[in-house]
Amino acid sequence: MDNSLMQIIEKFPRSRQNLIPVLQAIQKEQNYLNREAVSAVAEYLGLGVAQVYGAASFYTQFRLKKTGKNIIKICKGTACHVSGADNIIDAVERTLGIRKGETTADGKFSIEEVACLGCCSLAPVLMINDRVYARLVSSEVKKILQSYS
Ligand code: FES
Repeated sequence: MDNSLMQIIEKFPRSRQNLIPVLQAIQKEQNYLNREAVSAVAEYLGLGVAQVYGAASFYTQFRLKKTGKNIIKICKGTACHVSGADNIIDAVERTLGIRKGETTADGKFSIEEVACLGCCSLAPVLMINDRVYARLVSSEVKKILQSYS
C-alpha cells in the first residue's frame, strides 16, 4: 500500500460521510483516482469498491483515468459557442496534436470538455488548471499553451 495515499486517507475520520472529501483530497494530490486509491478508500470507510466507484463516476469532478499535468477545460456552453469557442477548441487541438478527451504523449496536457465554466459573460472562455482565460481569441492559444511548458 502506498504510504502517501494512506496519509491522505487517514486525515479523515473513518465515517462514510467523508467519502467525497477523501476522494477530493486524493485527486488533488494524485490528479486522478486509480484503482488502488478506490480500494483503499473503500476498505478504510467500510464500503464496497463498487460503491466508491459509483460515487466517483457519478460526480463529474472526479477523474478515473490518468490525465496530463495540466488540464485544459474547454467550454461547450451556449455563450462560449456563439462567441467563437469552436475556433479556440480547434486552435488548442491543432497546437497540441490531440483531441478532446485525450492526453499528450509527454503527459503535459489533457483536454476535457465541460458544459459551462460558470463565467459566461467572459466568453469564449478556456480554463487551464485553476486559471481562466477570458474573451479569448484563437491567435492567443499557442502562446498561452507554451507558457505551461
Ligand atoms: S457557456 Fe462557457 S462559461 Fe458558460
